[in-house]
Amino acid sequence: MDRQMGGPPRLRVLFVSSEAFPLAKTGGLADVCSALPATLAGLGVDIRIMIPGYPGALDALRRKQIVEKYNDAASGRDCSLIAGHMPDSGLPVLLLDCPGLFRRDGGLYQDSGGVDWRDNHRRFAALCAAAARVALGHTRLAWRPDIVHGNDWHTGPLSALLRQSGAARPKTVLTIHNLAFQGIFPLDVFPDLGLAAEALSPEGMEFYGQLSFLKAGIRYSDRLTTVSPNYAREILTPELGCGLESLLRRRGSDLVGILNGVNYEVWCPSRDAELPWRYTPDELSGKVACKAALQQEMGLPVEPTAPLMIYVNRLTHQKMADVLLQAIPAAVSTGAQIIVHGAGERAYEDAFSELARQHPKQVRARIGYHEALAHRMHAGADIALTPSRFEPCGLTTMYAMRYGALPVTRRVGGLADTVRDADAETQGAQDGTGFVFDAASVDELASCMRRAVDRYGNEAVWQKLQRRAMKRDFGWERSARRYLSLYDELMANEPAASSSEHRLDLSSAA
Ligand code: ADP
Ligand code: GLC
Repeated sequence: MDRQMGGPPRLRVLFVSSEAFPLAKTGGLADVCSALPATLAGLGVDIRIMIPGYPGALDALRRKQIVEKYNDAASGRDCSLIAGHMPDSGLPVLLLDCPGLFRRDGGLYQDSGGVDWRDNHRRFAALCAAAARVALGHTRLAWRPDIVHGNDWHTGPLSALLRQSGAARPKTVLTIHNLAFQGIFPLDVFPDLGLAAEALSPEGMEFYGQLSFLKAGIRYSDRLTTVSPNYAREILTPELGCGLESLLRRRGSDLVGILNGVNYEVWCPSRDAELPWRYTPDELSGKVACKAALQQEMGLPVEPTAPLMIYVNRLTHQKMADVLLQAIPAAVSTGAQIIVHGAGERAYEDAFSELARQHPKQVRARIGYHEALAHRMHAGADIALTPSRFEPCGLTTMYAMRYGALPVTRRVGGLADTVRDADAETQGAQDGTGFVFDAASVDELASCMRRAVDRYGNEAVWQKLQRRAMKRDFGWERSARRYLSLYDELMANEPAASSSEHRLDLSSAA
């Protein structure tokens, strides 16, 4: 820890991820990887975010400085470590600039045709190697972290690299944002990862005849977290453990579920710069105006009393896009308007576009990914459709509640932790903020959508629910404090791990 003159020691954390808003984003991971570090910084942590130097991130980074240039041994590529600051929060950032790996047109993980980059293992192994250099003090930075906090499969090998370094090393935390994405690669790429041979076994990162980056992270990190308490329980089961449930159960005492928060600097209708009108729970007339503006923007009839549903999502099996496609005709017959905005599997994109053609007065499909449109849609909507087969946390659902768009959602993962059913109120509870169903079936989703439409018909009841949903506090501070306790606990534990630890017997945690 860094002892400041007269002040308390500041914990230093290197927060490593594949994306962080607003530098690079494909989903909720990016939102968390900027908002959580910003909140931790506000709590006194000396934290630096590290992500790859994608072209957009290099452009947006403020006050850039090259720390050093070096050659990445595993990939043979020329790299630069670039220091700078977030354009919005001003938080310190490190970018791994490796033109051969990250400066390309297309997506963060896929080319513009939606095919995974063939060298993803090299790309994220290089990120891990760069983070390990910083973590072990092998750079020209006059800064070394006490804790390295990785996120998702992209950072899995990092904790293995640190363990195998043979040096005193920082403590490691891995947050699992989605167990379904594991970073699986063929065994023969192992030499590209720069890891010692012991990791190439079922006790290491071998996974059913392949390599799993995520397994490496689960296997070798000191502590594991995931993004809601309910998902932390679900991933211990064969249904949702994605084949890693036994390993996770063995590591159970090191695993904790901490609910994500919402960055209300970015997601708050009373100060959202993306909206045509602003509003608060006590003054909803701006929301009525946002709805009319959205209907107009989409070329839908401007009908104030038609229930307006949105689906802003990755168009994938996880998000039940297939089930929603079949449930929409029933919702259309209730008089609802439905706007779909998302990108994902080509077949779903085409099918939503076709449905919109079939129902020109009620359904719209905007295929693509537009941050500002997502904000306008939450503000204009009455109902947000957020069904999922599994959902580690589900930020969109929390954003929707803040904007007074009541969720229709499934009782799974973090969604079960964040939404209470409005109809449960008839059984005495007074905490309903949405509409919840259980089975991932067309019938259950369609009937839940109908329940929402029925409730919408009673304006007084609806506004009461809206106000309650808007006032639910999912701010980051409480959750960030839990991460801080976890860091403190780790620091209070044994002294920094020593060079002998890579010889520890790890077989009990395979
Ligand atoms: P996940 O990370 O699994 O996709 P979350 O609900 O946690 O789910 O986070 C999704 C994030 O991605 C939210 O910030 C949401 O607004 C954003 N998002 C999803 N699809 C789109 C889209 N088509 N355009 C803009 N933002 C989107
Ligand atoms: C993942 C999950 C989502 C979660 C997000 C941020 O993308 O699918 O549920 O909210 O990460 O943790």
